Amino acid sequence: MRYVPLDTPKPISKIGLGTWQFGSREWGYGPDYEQRAAQIVRRALDLGVTLFDTAEIYGFGRSERILGAALGDDRAKVVVASKIFPVLPLAPVVQQRAVASAARLGVAGIDLYQVHQPNPVVADTTTMRGMRTLQDVGLVGEVGVSNYGLRRWRFAEAALGRRVLSNQVRYSMVDRSPEKDLIPYAEQAGRIVIAYSPLGQGFLSGRYDARNPPAGAVRRANPYFLPENLERGTELIATLREVADAHDATPSQIALAYLLRHPNVVAIPGASAVEQVERNAAAAEIDLADDEYAALVTAAHAFRPVTGLAAVPKLIRARTRK
Ligand SMILES: NC(=O)c1ccc[n+]([C@@H]2O[C@H](COP(=O)([O-])OP(=O)(O)OC[C@H]3O[C@@H](n4cnc5c(N)ncnc54)[C@H](OP(=O)(O)O)[C@@H]3O)[C@@H](O)[C@H]2O)c1
Repeated sequence: MRYVPLDTPKPISKIGLGTWQFGSREWGYGPDYEQRAAQIVRRALDLGVTLFDTAEIYGFGRSERILGAALGDDRAKVVVASKIFPVLPLAPVVQQRAVASAARLGVAGIDLYQVHQPNPVVADTTTMRGMRTLQDVGLVGEVGVSNYGLRRWRFAEAALGRRVLSNQVRYSMVDRSPEKDLIPYAEQAGRIVIAYSPLGQGFLSGRYDARNPPAGAVRRANPYFLPENLERGTELIATLREVADAHDATPSQIALAYLLRHPNVVAIPGASAVEQVERNAAAAEIDLADDEYAALVTAAHAFRPVTGLAAVPKLIRARTRK
């Protein structure tokens, strides 16, 4: 495993574990998954993963409970990251919700407490006042944000009066917008970009095609899994496979290695099986050659999926056909 080259109280592994899947029926993993989830966490620990990401909204608290129980006594050794879903993130609400998350996780302190998304009405001034108090009493280690643009991230830092260590954003070979300004800022200021959906929710694994789309409500609502987009992704997947073959690796591992080239980026793939967490952790060791990286950039750039409003009627049609 490799770790972020930054001064943090505990090392942060370049590959973390995302746990939205835990206790969340919308991924369609069925009743046996809860037991597998615990095995996934234990295996991740064995492999040197130190960043475990959850949120109060995942499974309405179930993800935090499953993660905390699976970590057991190892909770104190790793970076436990959770998120407040900011419906009304006033300072006292932030404080109460952190206490509730810590209780579900079974931790005395949340190592990284993130604002899940920017609230369009409530300013970060009050939210960060709550965060500052939580840090002062030791219930929260580092503060993070998620889905923030650069301006608002910096505003949140000014409001906190301290570093907002990380911004967790969608970042994968099919969503590269953080490369414009968030990653350069992280590198210059000593911050971290946490890449969520780093495999495009499994799109980049090459496991799915138009005749074999994934099950579950989450991915039925994801335009990348429309038959048309799976078709359009063929070239990109072929390039991933080509680079993967040269490293005796899988397309997913190369998709992760692409992100981890940036020193201040960590990725938090979710996993449906122990074998996946093993592969994902191993991806941290892959060094892409410059020509391989260039080929991946070209292939990613050439991928033009149907997204946004244009995808909505197609998603509805795909749903009603089921
Ligand atoms: N802050 C936010 O707003 C936000 C939003 C979304 C997610 N997140 C966080 O980010 C984490 C990861 O994002 P995500 O779950 O949306 O997407 P992801 O990590 O890109 O995709 C996860 C899925 O990819 C497949 N997969 C994982 N490893 C694989 C491997 N080695 N080979 C082949 N397939 C593999 C698995 O699905 P199958 O095996 O079923 O194909 C797995 O459930 C979440 O768990 C959550 O913690 C945060």
